[in-house]
Parts: sequence; structure tokens; C-alpha cells
Amino acid sequence: MKLLITGGAGFIGSHVVRLFVNKYPNYQIFNLDKLTYAGNLANLSDIEDRENYTFLKGDIVDAAYLKEIFSQYNFDAVIHLAAESHVDRSITDPLAFVQTNVIGTVNLLNTARQHWAANLPGHLFYHISTDEVYGSLGEDGLFTEETAYDPRSPYSASKASSDHFVRAWYHTYGLPVKLSNCSNNYGPNHFPEKLIPLAIHNIKNNKPVPVYGKGENVRDWLYVLDHARAIDVIFHEGQLGETYNIGGVNEWKNLDLIELLCDQMDQKLGREQGTSRKLITFVKDRAGHDLRYAIDSSKLMNELGWKPSVTFEEGLSKTIDWYLQNSEWLENVTSGNYQAYYQQQYAAR
Ligand code: NAD
Ligand code: TYD
Repeated sequence: MKLLITGGAGFIGSHVVRLFVNKYPNYQIFNLDKLTYAGNLANLSDIEDRENYTFLKGDIVDAAYLKEIFSQYNFDAVIHLAAESHVDRSITDPLAFVQTNVIGTVNLLNTARQHWAANLPGHLFYHISTDEVYGSLGEDGLFTEETAYDPRSPYSASKASSDHFVRAWYHTYGLPVKLSNCSNNYGPNHFPEKLIPLAIHNIKNNKPVPVYGKGENVRDWLYVLDHARAIDVIFHEGQLGETYNIGGVNEWKNLDLIELLCDQMDQKLGREQGTSRKLITFVKDRAGHDLRYAIDSSKLMNELGWKPSVTFEEGLSKTIDWYLQNSEWLENVTSGNYQAYYQQQYAAR
């Protein structure tokens, strides 16, 4: 098996690459990544010398490059994670999301189909997507695989578009595909522009922790390794043409989550309980901020036997420990361009 994983230097991709490299020594794993601000080869330093691992630096928007590497390495299957992934960035620069998430995905679909034309059924294109394509829930209800798409941010619109293209290639050209739509991930190697690592970073440094609006928005959090485990199960056992929702059965209001995080950090840093909560600062809400996401993953659980392996309290504790023990990683990614991003994103709020 020659397996191409795109976006493998990013947050989720690095955990997927590590899991496959370790678990399947007979597979050749190729990690294609452009190394944007979110891609970091330090995420994979422990496996970079493995014989079954190869890193390819490239851009999925570059169709000629994709053709070249498909011809050179003759991949059997693709797990596609490369994307622009941050909602706030999509509000300031939507075109970057159209480029990578839409055009990049169509380039990959086209290249895979052309390269595999002689034997389409022997191959697989597995597309990794988000629950955000389903839009925003009210107080009740869960997203199922049948929920109509209703994306509301440039990020979710670009991911919804890419999902539609993947299904179009399945129905029109018979490309063997699978899709999964996952809820919010958290864990080690998460870039500190997203809520949980940003809050850990700021609490550690005694800086204000920005909470959008009143902190009432709800997200369903899943530990990143449990997402990687789900991707493994779906890749190997999921049905062709099918979509699987992946979620943590773990809904938290942002403010409740940040308070729990503050309390765990106080304990770990030896601060008096209540100290870090004083850093919570309510700031201007995100434009078009989706109120609530919550996933029904019963199809994946019942058909393929997957379930989350850690509780939120355990996962959060492991995540904080990782950030406290890897301050060099955090300092490296928060120097340079990150400072400019932070100024622009939060100064005016
Ligand atoms: P990330 O931003 O941490 O990583 C994305 C990776 O893609 C980076 O390594 C980046 O360098 C690479 N990349 C970006 N543009 C590229 C291009 N044009 N060509 C090649 N590589 C490129 O993102 P993540 O959080 O790890 O998300 C990975 C995937 O999972 C995305 O498709 C995202 O939509 C999806 N997803 C994420 C979450 C979440 O909570 N983070 C939840 C559900 C689904
Ligand atoms: P985020 O981690 O950006 O993920 P997503 O928008 O894809 O769900 O944000 C999670 C939630 O936290 C979301 O409701 C927005 C909110 N949020 C804040 O309150 N403050 C912040 O500084 C950030 C980045 C997010």
C-alpha cells in the first residue's frame, strides 16, 4: 500500500501520519504538505527517519506537481486533510480558502481519477471534512449524515463545496471515495490560533483569555487521537460512497470550557484556585458565529464499532501537560508571523 496523506504536517494530519506509520509498517506513507503557517515538521520529528515514511513538500493547488508525484510514486490511496482550517482567517481572507479547500481538492480528485483510470475500483480517495458544513444548531438536535448542508462561514462554505465535489466524482466518474465529518478536535500540536491552545498559551503567560460574545456558543470536542483512530477504522472498514459523522458526545459552552481549563491550569501551575479565571475577557463576537455544533456519531459507532477512548477531563489534562512540557514548540510557533496575526485579530476587539 502506497498511501498519500495530504496536510500531514498540520494538527490532525500529524497524528494520522504517526498512527499509520507506527501501526502499518508495510505501508509506504507519503506526507504531502505545503508547510503553511499551520504546517510544522517538528510535529513529526519522532517518525521522520522511519523507512516507511516520506515527506513531500508541495501545494495541492499546483496540478502539474500532483501529476508528477502520482506518476513518480504511484499511490494506491489518498487520505486528504490539507486545508486552510481557521474560521477567523477565512473571514479576513476567504480566497485562500477557495484556493486550497476547493481548487486544491478538485485538483487532487482530477489527478487521482486520471492516474487510476485503468483500475478505479482498486483505489480509494478518503476526504476529511468538518461538522461545520451542516451550519448551526439551536438548543436541541444533533447533526446526522442526512442533515442538509447549510454552511455559514467562508471556511465551512469551502469545506462544503469540497465535500460536494468528492461526491460528484463518486457519482459521475465512479471514483471510489469515503468521507467523514468531524466535530472540533483538541490535543497536542494544535496551532494556538484555535480556542483551546490559545487559552492555554495565554493562561500560562498571564495574558487575557479572549472569549467571543458571551461565551455561550457550544462545541462538541473530540481528542485528536480519537479522530485519528476513527480515520483508521473508516479508511479500512468504511463503505465506499458513504459518509461517517465523528463526534465526541461532549458538548461544552465556550465559557464553561474555559473555566474548566483555568481551574486545571491553576492546579498544574500551583496557582491559587480562581487565579486564572480572572484572565477571562469578553471580546467582540465573531461575525456569523455559529451557535452550536453537536454530532450524532451512532452510524460510525454501530456499524464500525468506534467510540471515543478518553473523557474530556482526561484529554484536556493530557493536552495541558503536553503544552507545558513542550514550551519550545509553543514558542517557535508563536514567534514571527503569529505576533502580527494576533495583533490584527485581537487588537480591535
Ligand atoms: P491545520 O490547519 O492544523 O493543518 C492543515 C495542514 O494543511 C497544514 O500542515 C498546512 O501546511 C497544510 N496545507 C494547507 N494548505 C495546503 C496546500 N495548498 N497544499 C498542501 N498542504 C497544505 O488543520 P487541521 O486542524 O489539522 O485540519 C485538518 C483537516 O481536518 C482539514 O481538512 C479540516 O477541515 C479538517 N477538520 C478539522 C477539525 C478541527 O477541529 N481542527 C475538525 C474537523 C475536520
Ligand atoms: P475555534 O477553536 O476557532 O474553532 P471553530 O470556530 O472551528 O469551532 O473556536 C471554538 C469556539 O471558541 C468558537 O465558538 C469560537 C470561540 N473562540 C473564542 O471565544 N475566542 C477565541 O479567541 C477563539 C479563537 C475562538
